[in-house]
Amino acid sequence: MSPISPDPAAPHAPASPGGAPPPGPRLLAVSDLHVGMADNRPITESLRPSHDDDWLIVAGDVGELTEDIAWALGLLAGRFAKVVWAPGNHELWTPREDAVQLRGEERYRHLVEMCRGLGVLTPEDDWPLWEGPGGPVRVAPLFLLYDYTFRVAGTSTKEESLARAHEAGVVCTDEYLLHPDPYRGRDDWCRARVAETRRRLAAQDPSVPLVLVNHFPLVRQPTQVLWHPEFAQWCGTVLTADWHRRFTTAAVVYGHLHIPRTTWYDGVRFEEVSIGYPREWRRRGHPKGLLRQILPYTPQQEAATGLGTMGARS
Ligand SMILES: [Fe+2]
Ligand SMILES: [Fe+2]
Repeated sequence: MSPISPDPAAPHAPASPGGAPPPGPRLLAVSDLHVGMADNRPITESLRPSHDDDWLIVAGDVGELTEDIAWALGLLAGRFAKVVWAPGNHELWTPREDAVQLRGEERYRHLVEMCRGLGVLTPEDDWPLWEGPGGPVRVAPLFLLYDYTFRVAGTSTKEESLARAHEAGVVCTDEYLLHPDPYRGRDDWCRARVAETRRRLAAQDPSVPLVLVNHFPLVRQPTQVLWHPEFAQWCGTVLTADWHRRFTTAAVVYGHLHIPRTTWYDGVRFEEVSIGYPREWRRRGHPKGLLRQILPYTPQQEAATGLGTMGARS
């Protein structure tokens, strides 16, 4: 399951293992800041670049209230040379206590406009070119959602799979707070996003590698270590299973699972970059630091944590 921290008592581990200042700018990533939880706010406040030209990818689940999301992204946009955001499921909730009561697509568009006001890039903007060390790569924030195709074993339809989750008492809060309006369901919204995004990716120059950023993993394998396998159906779609092979991909960045680690599929690096809930990071610490270095990539950065790469290279 999730890795054990070498030092669980040090939740505010430095972004650079060993504290050595990096020689140049870095492309960094984080997700699942969940700033609605008071104990996660100091963590967010501690996130700083170590170079004036560092970029930060924020791969969703910043928070639930628009006020909180604006606070966190505004703070980070004021510190990093560029901030690139992809929405998580939590940003797409419409909590009763939020000043903004928009639902579904309208809420997403509202968040996109809010990000633009803060100078934060979204999936609706031109994808920026990282030309620092490890580049050039195009950083592509995606919004794809899920379609219940990571089904419970032994089931063959969304309805059967959902029924098994209800029987097990493992039901994602999205079912009550993430409204898909104007789509009929979250799966319809997902399929529309996948179709539009696939077209956009196919139009990219294949000679420039991509860093694909999506809140949910693009492949199912990372969900195989979930404590509750029923939860996988809220974690992605089989429609993206070959995207890391189909498009020239330097790395895939995701969150949502709250299992920070690095795995490899078909020779492509997948980075789960979540902070997670206080009850999780108090137990496991931050085994790979708070900010994950996506580029430049150095195998030593995995060795430096003492944990290295988890999962089979397939
Ligand atoms: Fe999360
Ligand atoms: Fe999430």
